[in-house]
Amino acid sequence: MTFSAIPGASDAPAPAMLPKAELHLHIEGTLEPELIFALAQRNGIELPYADLAELRARYEFTDLQSFLDLYYANMAVLRTEEDFADMTRAYLRRAAAAGVRHAEIMMDPQAHVARGVPLATAINGVASALAASEAEFGISTGLIAAFLRDLSEESALSVLEELLGMDAPIIGIGLDSAEVGNPPSKFVRLYDRARAAGLRLIAHAGEEGPASYVTDALDLLGVERIDHGIRCMEDTALVSRMSAEQVPLTVCPLSNVRLRAVDTLADHPLPAMLAAGLNVCVNSDDPAYFGGHVDDNFAQLEAVFGFGTAELERLAGNSIRSSFIGLERRTALLAELAEWVRARD
Ligand code: HPA
Ligand code: ZN
Repeated sequence: MTFSAIPGASDAPAPAMLPKAELHLHIEGTLEPELIFALAQRNGIELPYADLAELRARYEFTDLQSFLDLYYANMAVLRTEEDFADMTRAYLRRAAAAGVRHAEIMMDPQAHVARGVPLATAINGVASALAASEAEFGISTGLIAAFLRDLSEESALSVLEELLGMDAPIIGIGLDSAEVGNPPSKFVRLYDRARAAGLRLIAHAGEEGPASYVTDALDLLGVERIDHGIRCMEDTALVSRMSAEQVPLTVCPLSNVRLRAVDTLADHPLPAMLAAGLNVCVNSDDPAYFGGHVDDNFAQLEAVFGFGTAELERLAGNSIRSSFIGLERRTALLAELAEWVRARD
């Protein structure tokens, strides 16, 4: 007598991860507490926390600014190219396990220059890890310089000129940090300069700021993608327009919960955004701070909203189609996604 294999037995191949692109990721937001302590020790830096538990106890946020205060403070441990490269490789290794096949990664050059770290040290450290990413982790990458909107446009323009002068391997620019009170209209010349230099354009808008900041990011800055954008849902005309134009929105559900933009994941507007026909994708933002990587975001969406194959395919497809990768890689990744869907049927 023979027995058939038990479904789900341990020798069954693990289902492949959903192949996806991650388009909203701050590399400094991937700095895990363990790495913060390791880098502090390597660089002889005294941390204001006695141990990991004391640092972890700080990861309770009431709004965007309460997070930003810790995020900028923790960057103090990043001093050398090796530090930036180690942080970047740790993200790529974890992202590969999450099924990320392409990543467009923001970094905050001004936050490092302001601490006395040379621009080249920060850029070269991140860029060296990204250069090896496809061979090492199977993840194609692009680097985006994000500018701190609570600083002046002059500061942003001078760092952008320095980046252009050193031929930094960036594909585009973004706008992040404290949103309310720092509207897109403050950065029109910065975006005009970046556009003239042939860079791709994105900006955070409608995370804590109003829907009008989303409109202004599109109309005044000419951005090709909106980071977050969840508050666009407060303006029905804007939703219709963004649905018609299929403007990509890089949504970060766990970030929105942890920064109290929404009360709980069940209150998140993502299902309504999908129902409105918006071009949304799922991202982790600052995974070391917000309780998980992009796969964790997907897992919680599946658990809370019952997302199945159709939603997962649409969200991952949007991420790949909304990326700035070339046609050949895009086609290959969409084929991988189609294969993932077929294998699940
Ligand atoms: N919002 C704005 N600025 C940021 C964020 C964010 O979620 N993460 C890092 N800088
Ligand atoms: Zn962000």
